[in-house]
Amino acid sequence: MIKLHDLSFKPFISEQDVDVTVQRMVDEIANDMQDEIPVFVGILNGSFMFVSDFVKKYPKPCEVTFIKLASYEGLKSSEDIQRLIGLTQDLSGRKVVILEDIIDSGNTLEAIHRIFKNENVDELKIATLFYKPEAYKKDYKLHYVGREIPNKFIVGYGLDYNGLGRDLPAIYQLKTTQYMTNLVLFGPPGAGKGTQAEFLKDTYNLVHISTGDVFRFNIKNETALGMLAKSYMDKGELVPDQVTIDMLNAEVEKNADANGFIFDGFPRTNAQAEALDKLMDSKDSQINAMIALEVDDEVLVQRLLERGKTSGRKDDANESIIRSRITEYYKKTAVLKDYYTAQDKYFGVDGVGSIQDITERLNTVIDTL
Ligand code: IMP
Ligand code: MG
Repeated sequence: MIKLHDLSFKPFISEQDVDVTVQRMVDEIANDMQDEIPVFVGILNGSFMFVSDFVKKYPKPCEVTFIKLASYEGLKSSEDIQRLIGLTQDLSGRKVVILEDIIDSGNTLEAIHRIFKNENVDELKIATLFYKPEAYKKDYKLHYVGREIPNKFIVGYGLDYNGLGRDLPAIYQLKTTQYMTNLVLFGPPGAGKGTQAEFLKDTYNLVHISTGDVFRFNIKNETALGMLAKSYMDKGELVPDQVTIDMLNAEVEKNADANGFIFDGFPRTNAQAEALDKLMDSKDSQINAMIALEVDDEVLVQRLLERGKTSGRKDDANESIIRSRITEYYKKTAVLKDYYTAQDKYFGVDGVGSIQDITERLNTVIDTL
């Protein structure tokens, strides 16, 4: 991820993929030009890198020139195209190929056609490295298109956002949804996860997604996903990860204006952690941290036995059941600790002390993310 001015961009097309695309365009155009010497006209500023790589790869003699037009302000294409440097040589009778970095609304292309209207060129062809079909509002033919892309703002390889990003060798795409703080919260039974999740929710305007609650909600309300999940449970089978992920996705979408999410009860396996990463990625977002409340086993046992006296929960009253639940927790979460540690995202937080002390420790971790 990179930041230019106030906005974040994520990797979109690698340097290598750009190179392959440019090569393909070169091959196609060289083939069509046969023995003619074409004049390649780059449209500045954006096309400088494309033109440079393109002509270096071009296998036969050619001429190169530029015109300089400006239409973009910030993230938006404007109707008002300014011609800053026009054509400086006679192109009558020549085969001309326009080399554009990107065609968006087509306003710039219209200005190009206006410029060439009285030039008496033999042939005017349009080649663009990138093309946004959803944004294009004109009907000029595009003879060579390197790659169609969605209608999202990109930078790199000559393309800029308010002056920055032209120098990047690869293409980056604007991140649209920017959930900032997404946490996976872990803690053995009795660690105080529920209590702390409530504080985090309020302090950081996060939405707490407890997988258990999500399942109960979907099943109780007989949603399509709930019914699907239930059909597996009724057969005594595990609910496939994809069903769970689809439910979590629905929760995330319901809360599009949240600052982020606390995932609780998911993931439990490596495959689920990968699926969650993929889900967040599809939202232009990511898991920022796995936070695990760490509490010594003996303290947990005492806490749970204490809780058992008043809660009436049977599994809180029996010491050996408590101990096996704790053992089970460490067995299951060890792989996830490794998974998030490998991404530098694992944070263990001491869960012994007053509720307020623990809250402060959690806040300290989150504030550094
Ligand atoms: P059009 O006139 O709307 O077709 O836009 C063409 C010009 O706008 C390009 O030559 C770029 O300079 C600029 N442009 C269009 N889309 C983008 C983008 O996603 N990133 C950066 N510049 C863009
Ligand atoms: Mg341009």
